[in-house]
Order: sequence, then C-alpha cells, then structure tokens
Amino acid sequence: MKSMDKIVSLCKRRGFLFQSSEIYGGIQGFWDYGPLGVELKRNVKEAWWTDMIRGHNDLITPAGAPSTFEMVGLDSTIIMHPQVWKCSGHYDLFHDHMVDCRESKKRYRFDQVRGRWCEHRDQKIFVSTLAEVEQELDEVRRRAMKFFKLRPKNADELTVGNESLTLDQLDDTHSVLAPDAKSLDTLTEPREFNLMFKTTIGALGGEEDAAFLRPETAQGIFVNFKNVVDSSRVKIPFGIGQIGKSFRNEITPRNFTFRSREFEQMEIEFFCRPDQSQEWYRYWRDRRLAWYKTLGLSDESLIMREHHVEELAHYSVGTADIEYAFPFLPPGEYGELEGIAHRGDFDLRSHMEGKLDPNSPPGEPMKVELNEHGKPKHRGSGKDLSYRDEVTNEKFVPHVIEPSAGADRGVLAFLCEAYTEDEAPDENGEMQVRTVMKLHPRLAPVKAAVFPLVKKDGMPEVAQEIYGELKQSMNVFYDEKGAVGRRYRRQDEAGTPYCITVDTDTLTDKTVTIRDRDTLEQTRVKIDEVAAVIHTLLR
Ligand code: GAP
Repeated sequence: MKSMDKIVSLCKRRGFLFQSSEIYGGIQGFWDYGPLGVELKRNVKEAWWTDMIRGHNDLITPAGAPSTFEMVGLDSTIIMHPQVWKCSGHYDLFHDHMVDCRESKKRYRFDQVRGRWCEHRDQKIFVSTLAEVEQELDEVRRRAMKFFKLRPKNADELTVGNESLTLDQLDDTHSVLAPDAKSLDTLTEPREFNLMFKTTIGALGGEEDAAFLRPETAQGIFVNFKNVVDSSRVKIPFGIGQIGKSFRNEITPRNFTFRSREFEQMEIEFFCRPDQSQEWYRYWRDRRLAWYKTLGLSDESLIMREHHVEELAHYSVGTADIEYAFPFLPPGEYGELEGIAHRGDFDLRSHMEGKLDPNSPPGEPMKVELNEHGKPKHRGSGKDLSYRDEVTNEKFVPHVIEPSAGADRGVLAFLCEAYTEDEAPDENGEMQVRTVMKLHPRLAPVKAAVFPLVKKDGMPEVAQEIYGELKQSMNVFYDEKGAVGRRYRRQDEAGTPYCITVDTDTLTDKTVTIRDRDTLEQTRVKIDEVAAVIHTLLR
C-alpha cells in the first residue's frame, strides 16, 4: 500500500530528500535534496528545459498549435527593484489569511487547519488538528476524548462528525479547539499576512533599502521583455522560459515539500497577439497536461481543473490548474502541480504605466490604480513595453499565457507515482515484498548499475570497464558488495531502470545480463553492445 509515511521514509533512507539543517532540529518549510534527489530534480528540470525551450523546433507547427513559434530562455535575479513587486500587485495583494492562537502563541493558515465537529452530551465543539489526512480522525478523537475528560471505556459517549472541514468553512471560530490549545475560543480573527520575504540591501539597512526575495520567477521575465525582443529579435508569438528559486513565507508549510518556503519554479511567459490569446491558452493547457503524462503520471491521478468564472481575475479569459492526487490528500482531492493562466496585458502594462486596478470595470481596458490624491498608486517604469509587428506595422501590448510549474511539486508527484510495492523472488527463490521506484528512465537518478556477480575471477575488471564506458554519457553506479539480490533491491529503491551483471558466463562467452527493473526480465547481451543497448532502452 502506498502511503505518504512510506514515501517520506524511503526518501530519507535512500537520500532523495532531507530536512534542511536537520542536525540543529530542522527548519520548517525548507528541504535539501540528497545524492539521488539532486539527480532526480535536475532530470525533471532538464526534461522541462529540453522539451519546452532548447529542444523546441520553431520551424514546424506542433500538433494543436495555431502556428509556429519561438522559445528562448532567461535567468534573472532573485532580488529585483522593489518597484517590480509594487507594480506586479504582490506588495498589496500577495497575502494569506492567518489566525493566531492566544493560548499556544502559534500561527496557522486559516484555510489549512482541518478538523471535525465533536459532540458529548449537549456540548458541540470543533476539534482541529494539523495531523496528516491518514491520522486526522484518530487525532481528532484523541483530542476530543481528552477535552471532555472521557475514559476509553466511555468512548461511545462521544460523536465525531464524518465531514472533515477547514477553519474557513466554519461560520465562526468560537467553538474551535485550536490545534495546540487546551481550551476553546483561543483563535484571533483572520488577518492578512504578506508572503514575501523581506531583506535589506547595503549596510545602512533603512526602510528605503528594503527589498524582497522574489515570490515567483515570472516578473523577471516581464521586466526583461524589451531586452529579449531587442537582443534576440524574436517575433510574436514567442515564449520566454525560466527556471529558478522562489521564496514565500508560507504560514503553515506542510505536506513534505508540497508547500515549502523556498522552492523552484519552471515558468513560461508566452507573448501573443490579443486576438489569438484564447487559442494559445488552450494549446498550452493541453500541452502541459500531456507533458506530465509522457513522464509517467497516470491518467487517473491527474486532473485539469478549469477555474470558475468567479475565480478569475476579470482581465483573464481562463486559468486552469493541473492537479495531482497526492497521497497526503483525502481520496477524491487533488493538489496543484501547475497553473496555466491567461494574464491578458496586465503585467506588461502595469510595468509600463503603473499598477493597473484589478477592480476596473469589466469589459473596458484596465485603468491605472490611483491613490487618495488621484495619482498612480504605484508608478510604472515609463518604458514602452509594447511590440511593433514588422509586417503589419501594428503596435500593441502583447497578451500573455503563463504555464507556471513547481519543480519541487513535480519531483514530489513523480516520487509518489513511482512508489510501488510488488513481489519478487529473493536469492533463495522465495517471493518477498519488493519496494521499487518506477521512475521514468528520463527522470531516474541512476540510469544503470553495474555489478560483478562475485569479487574474483576477473569479474570486477570487466564490470569496471563497462562502468567506465557508460559513465561518459550517463549517471551509472558500480557495486560489488554483498549478495547480488540485495544489490538489485537497493537499485530498485533508487529507481535504477537497468542492472548489468557480469557473471561466470561472461568470462567464456563475453556476454552480460541486463535486468529490467519493472519486468525483472534478464537478457544476455554482448559486452561490446552493452552501451548501445542501454542507450536504446533509455530512449
Ligand atoms: N507566476 C505564477 C505563479 O507563481 P502560483 O500558482 O502561485 O503561480 C506556480 O505558483 C507553481 O509554483 C504552483 O503550481 C506550484 O507548483 C509552485 N508553488 C507555489 N507555491 C509553492 C510552495 N509554497 N511550495 C512549493 N511549490 C510551490
């Protein structure tokens, strides 16, 4: 059975993921990638960069696209001019609602604390918890029993509701037992909390030197739009892609790496003519969903959730989220992997004219937001960020489609999907439960492992030669310690698709076996064909 506990434990045991600063007790919301994890994450980012940017062929029209288009890359800074965040809207609007507990002094995100109504005699209280979904019911029951001072033998005097609710689904919080409190009604009213990390530039450190760690990579692309057009002579339609770190001071980081305070994004801003933007929106939505499936996420665990009209910013014609059935969610619930948003001309015009007013009347071009003195609330750069079509000589502000993916959430989804328990014979031929990470070969941290069956008779020398040859073009692992069955199991847990074993026959017929991680089939291949066969299999 797949469970989040097992996945987290494998990630730590095998070196995919560690808690940051663990020897000092850890730091919440920050994660380190171990030797296997760093390879996996690099492979996810490399697959995205190759498939979306470098490998894109701008001479042919991809299936489903309205026309050919160009894609280029960018690497902008994490700290940018503070005005960027004023014009992007993050300074005023990038917040979550949080509540403080007056008793425990802890702070929670209002929409993330879950719980259930519990009843004993004529008192009904809402017992909340931060426990994972699998433990939620037990934890609510345990806390309710304690609150009502019930002994185990009186457990049937307690009624626990079937429905799991979050705090923002309640009418008020007076009857709430907060996650770390002993008495009721200890939560404050929800308040806004800006998620941007603040820092200071230079030695003086006054308020005028304040800057922010970027909460998204997207703005680095918008502010470089003109630079890219002028320097690389790309023509609309075209996209600029960027992979990089983003930072959000999440109130309750949780669910392993799903909600972290430091994470990586893989974002594209795709610039097109306003009258073609709907077609491009549909194209990117479908293409991004297909990408996850190509790399192994199953149809059943992925959904595309179109936002309802009332969820959309009014300048937006559409936003869709690609969501995955992460095992930490209740059955039937999905978590966001990537958002594809139609952003209209909001960003380019805001950086040009001053922050636009998201409450401008629908159906009209958006107006610059004004302060109480009738002046722009946040001044733009004043630079012309419009585009001139060389053929028609038409000048316009391009519309933007933004496929915005999280690299860490992608890695987490691939890890969750890959985790499999099946049965395989051990070295004595007895069937045993086997844990295997069925990662797509493109994503697998180690592509092949090479083993001499035993550490003698010239087998290590042959194995090391094969290892040396493969090492030039891929990440390969060499292991000569312990029983070969145990070596296979270790590679299964690492997700290594192929194991190459040098055995007694090798010494006479110059062949080795290649074992397939998923089917467990073993094929004999000539030593001098191993590299070519492995390359073909990986393709
Ligand atoms: N530029 C648009 C933008 O940033 P978003 O939906 O806020 O949109 C895009 O973020 C993606 O970044 C999400 O779909 C998710 O994969 C990832 N992401 C956002 N916040 C995250 C967090 N706290 N931890 C890990 N990944 C996160």
